[in-house]
Amino acid sequence: MNIHIIGGGNLGAAIAIGLAQFTTGNTITVTRRNVKLIDNLKQYGINTSADNADGIANADILMLAIKPWQVDAVLGELLPHVSGKIIASAASGVTLEQLHAKIAGTNTVVRIMPNIAAQYGASATCVSAKAEDISKAQPIVDLFDKVGTAVIIDEKLMDAATVLGACGTAFALRYIRASMQAGIEIGFDAKTALAISAQTALGATEMLLKESAHPEQLIDKVTTPQGCTIAGLNEMEHEGFSSSLIKGIKTSLKQIKG
Ligand SMILES: NC(=O)c1ccc[n+]([C@@H]2O[C@H](COP(=O)([O-])OP(=O)(O)OC[C@H]3O[C@@H](n4cnc5c(N)ncnc54)[C@H](OP(=O)(O)O)[C@@H]3O)[C@@H](O)[C@H]2O)c1
Repeated sequence: MNIHIIGGGNLGAAIAIGLAQFTTGNTITVTRRNVKLIDNLKQYGINTSADNADGIANADILMLAIKPWQVDAVLGELLPHVSGKIIASAASGVTLEQLHAKIAGTNTVVRIMPNIAAQYGASATCVSAKAEDISKAQPIVDLFDKVGTAVIIDEKLMDAATVLGACGTAFALRYIRASMQAGIEIGFDAKTALAISAQTALGATEMLLKESAHPEQLIDKVTTPQGCTIAGLNEMEHEGFSSSLIKGIKTSLKQIKG
């Protein structure tokens, strides 16, 4: 497929690199106004351009990886050149209804919520489309399945998907940072503490996904009665570990919904 990603920032560049690395047979073009900043994408065989309209008449899929307030202007630029394409928007908070109002049936509209781990084939992507467009959205699901996992969700959960799957990257990294900081306090140099903390989080995730287990089942395997793990875990819970994460996620959702 011929895929054009409009907006080569954090997300657009990550998706482009992921698709270039983990899919075959696709032509990928990324645009941004300051095109010099995405010169590095060329090493992955990705085309770059400062002109959003450049070659889009031949595109199969357009992905919008621009800020929500840029969507109207960019669609205004693209729409005269395209019809019958799939337009997948990653702009948070821009609804299918708003996109349909602008696109008015000329192209198929899909919302996507990936995260920047797409670059390493590890995004948790959510996709939504109107019921009548779900089958046309399948190529998008298939693409994002190659750079991680992709599920179709009801659009009413798209804001929640943004928080859990996209903001969630930052939440997980903050956990690793905290673990690393504690590691330094208990004796490791920063580099070693980070390596141990990150690999331990990766290992826990691998087990969880490979075993399709509930986290608590695996926690039970690590916690000896009266041992150090349960003592530490319970202290964390007394200090509000789970509670603060849940509250943070709900606050992020409130913020998105305005
Ligand atoms: N970052 C994430 O983890 C993440 C995850 C899920 C969803 N999202 C959503 O994805 C969107 C992009 O996020 P981001 O973090 O990648 O933002 P970003 O780093 O600011 O990237 C946006 C890019 O759009 C480009 N751009 C702006 N106007 C443009 C135009 N008229 N034509 C072409 N390119 C244009 C900008 O480059 P120039 O200024 O050089 O044009 C910039 O590189 C947002 O709506 C965000 O909510 C982000």
